Amino acid sequence: MRIAVIDDEEIVRSRLHKALTKEGYTVETYGSGEEFLNALEHSPVDLAFLDISLPGISGLEVLKHAKPKFPEMEIILMTGYSSIESVIDSVRQGAFYYVAKPLKLDEIRHLASKVYDRKRLLDENRALKTVLSPVDGWGAMIGVSSPMKEVFRLIEKVAPLDCNVLIQGESGTGKELVARSIHRQSRRKDRAFVAFNCGGFTEELIASELFGYQRGAFTGATATKIGILETASGGTAFMDEIADMPLSMQGKLLRVIQEKQIMRVGANKPIQLDLRFIAATNKDLKKAVQEVRFREDLYFRLNVVQINLPGLMDRKEDLPLLIDFFTQKYSTKFSKKISNMEQIARQILLSYSYPGNVRELENIVERAVALAESESITLNDLPPDLREYSVTQYGKWLTYEEQERDYIKRVLKFTDHNLGRTAKILNLPRTTLWRKLKKYGLSQS
Ligand SMILES: Nc1ncnc2c1ncn2[C@@H]1O[C@H](COP(=O)(O)OP(=O)(O)OP(=O)(O)O)[C@@H](O)[C@H]1O
Ligand SMILES: [Mg+2]
Repeated sequence: MRIAVIDDEEIVRSRLHKALTKEGYTVETYGSGEEFLNALEHSPVDLAFLDISLPGISGLEVLKHAKPKFPEMEIILMTGYSSIESVIDSVRQGAFYYVAKPLKLDEIRHLASKVYDRKRLLDENRALKTVLSPVDGWGAMIGVSSPMKEVFRLIEKVAPLDCNVLIQGESGTGKELVARSIHRQSRRKDRAFVAFNCGGFTEELIASELFGYQRGAFTGATATKIGILETASGGTAFMDEIADMPLSMQGKLLRVIQEKQIMRVGANKPIQLDLRFIAATNKDLKKAVQEVRFREDLYFRLNVVQINLPGLMDRKEDLPLLIDFFTQKYSTKFSKKISNMEQIARQILLSYSYPGNVRELENIVERAVALAESESITLNDLPPDLREYSVTQYGKWLTYEEQERDYIKRVLKFTDHNLGRTAKILNLPRTTLWRKLKKYGLSQS
């Protein structure tokens, strides 16, 4: 745990530094609020012991600035004269606690360990995974928010029942993950799970994919083909983008579900199937029914149980957990040791709006982990439009050097690290380029 001590008295700083370092914490000390706020941008801390009466901007002022930007940081105020108003004011602004001077080291140690326990508990909660362990490249499903808990409850309840399920949710909210979770927890778990995207195909193509065809059924059918549904018999069929299935095909699917048998194209004998159907859509299927774009009878068949996945913005509590989860996932995947994230980068990830939901978040974190050059993900590892966002949201502008480094890196990537071409594009003498590469740690040797 990282702790900052902010006090204008050298004696206080060194006493706390000594006592807390001894407890195993990493301790930084600052003589003024300005110094601390500047450092905070680059080196976030978990806990700050903050003197109220500082020269320059006051402790309360520091609190007011720092707390909204770094909500996870705990702040304990130290006050020489216990003025009750300022204490109440500080608690209202998000201070964790306050201590009166002269300081008792025991109390300081006790408070630090209290914060430490609290952090650890939070981290453990974050690590708490739910519902299912990784299967065929699909990870666990994560969530602590109440809408996600409700989803987990439904999955558990419905999985063993073998009824059809309709999953609705915006793009990237985890519909396929839910379908796989249900399969994994059902009696069919050792049999196939097949996913079929119903959108964008003609009726003929869908029919031959789903049902297969008999040799000679049409020109080009030189051999008999087993359809997807037949291969999945005994398991689960996941019908993705169900709303986009052509109307004519919907009737055929309805018959398959009702009669539990299929007919290969060109065949005259039906084949018995044992399938559970899970359908998913990011559209409002009920509305499609009202607009006569989707058969009502098929809708009722599929919609025995409905699971609605909330958009990521309706469960912001899940964000920290998902960020950590994906960081872990891709650190492992890329054999990296990423254990940290620059506070500003984390803030941006926590406040962005994710129109592409969990999938978008996952992509952003994957990219960041891939690009990260140290154990910590930095602002530079986020996509450019998110970095832009940081400028408007947090007033964090890139310096010329950061900008330059970034740009050189992009050109290097484009030229596949060809220094001659890079120098030409940048219109720089090779020696200058070479010096810059060294300066920014971009040279490959
Ligand atoms: N709660 C979650 N915990 C962990 N990973 C998740 C969660 N929700 C979604 N994901 C991940 O996000 C990605 C998108 O999920 P999925 O493909 O299931 O979404 P979808 O709703 O089917 O999206 P689309 O409508 O775009 O097909 C996957 O990599 C999935 O593993
Ligand atoms: Mg999907």
